[in-house]
Amino acid sequence: MVEGFVVDFPSVVVREGKVEVLVPDLVAFGVMPSDYAPSRAPVFFNPVMEFNRDLSVLAFRVFQRLVNREISVCEPLTSQGIRGIRYAMEVEGVVRVLVSDINHHAFELAQYNILRNGVQDKVTLRLKEANALLSGNAAPMKRFDVVDIDPFGSPVSFLDSAFRAVKNKGLVAVTATDLAPLCGVHVKACVRKYGGKPLRVEYCHELAIRLLVGCMVQMAAKHDMGLNVLFSHSSDHYIRVYVQVSYGCQKADESLKSMGYVLHCFNCLHRETTHKPFNDLTCPDCCAKMDYAGPLWLGKINNAEFINQLLLESQIITLGTARKIDKMLAILKDEAEASITFYVLDQVGKKLCLPATSTQTVLTALQDMGYQAVPTHFNTRGIKTSAPAKVMRETFKKIVEPK
Ligand SMILES: C[S@@+](CC[C@H](N)C(=O)[O-])C[C@H]1O[C@@H](n2cnc3c(N)ncnc32)[C@H](O)[C@@H]1O
Ligand SMILES: [Zn+2]
Repeated sequence: MVEGFVVDFPSVVVREGKVEVLVPDLVAFGVMPSDYAPSRAPVFFNPVMEFNRDLSVLAFRVFQRLVNREISVCEPLTSQGIRGIRYAMEVEGVVRVLVSDINHHAFELAQYNILRNGVQDKVTLRLKEANALLSGNAAPMKRFDVVDIDPFGSPVSFLDSAFRAVKNKGLVAVTATDLAPLCGVHVKACVRKYGGKPLRVEYCHELAIRLLVGCMVQMAAKHDMGLNVLFSHSSDHYIRVYVQVSYGCQKADESLKSMGYVLHCFNCLHRETTHKPFNDLTCPDCCAKMDYAGPLWLGKINNAEFINQLLLESQIITLGTARKIDKMLAILKDEAEASITFYVLDQVGKKLCLPATSTQTVLTALQDMGYQAVPTHFNTRGIKTSAPAKVMRETFKKIVEPK
């Protein structure tokens, strides 16, 4: 325990993973569990993000094993410190964690939490602006193995300095909660921030990940870095991606080759991808005019082997959200190799003016015809398949229409 520390706002102690931290008492501030944005509390804390933090612990443990050396972590938007403290205590091989926040209430609380958990030898705290902190650690000998960007809203303004502060073969993990722009509610904001056009479609959360990765690829390329996406997911109110960085202009060029566009027909649900700019947006299926999203990342957004390792690792450690984690990872394992975009059965039914049918029935019917067809973590009613829209429509009709 830490003697003499007085916090001048209502607070409670929470346990998460191996740590015990003091956080604002959200009930006293009238914060609802659905309030994700900066809340009325003087220091940010979101208990719902335990899933995000548990997965980060898991991912960093697997990454550490992959690189097989002692690692350093920087978390420049730490708030009360819970993330950085967890990395120090729960990820083997972590020898140094640098955490920081610009808010002095957060700084004081994080300082207390570091001492309370006895990790002051590993965790260093600063009261510093995130970009200034990362830029101050951009010299080759100062860079980190892992940089974790967990902001309110968009991470874009921190990406450039994150890449400057990461070692070759290091990992950059990024959360984005600004789903309104990324999912096509605020198109201009998305183009401005991420450099790509979003689309309000049933698979907009997948496009959101692809827009974020696309933006990271373009940003990393300016530093002659290429990216390999190890893991990504969409959960609750946010998306999260984990990319491994490789130094070298050829690596950067290679990554840029996976940039492109997704073309979508709102009339018949046809979708296609292209790496080249296009003039003609006529749907090859129904001749309606298609819309598009991009430029965005068309490469893999999950690495099947990394997901496999995450599944194995989750059997070894005890995490509060283990059940939810295992459920999602089991789906992601197959999803990692599946095609871009997915169909949502309720949307298909609506288009065909037909009642809904079970996901499993459609999955089996498509698989029986020899198409790849798997569920997706993005939507419980979603199917990723190699079948074209026409086949999906006909299959759905055959199942649902009375004989
Ligand atoms: C979403 S919270 C971080 C939550 C924390 N990572 C966790 O897992 O609980 C974002 C934090 O970033 C801090 N912040 C916002 N802009 C910043 C900046 N430019 N530099 C440093 N900290 C900043 C805020 O004060 C806030 O505490
Ligand atoms: Zn069409």
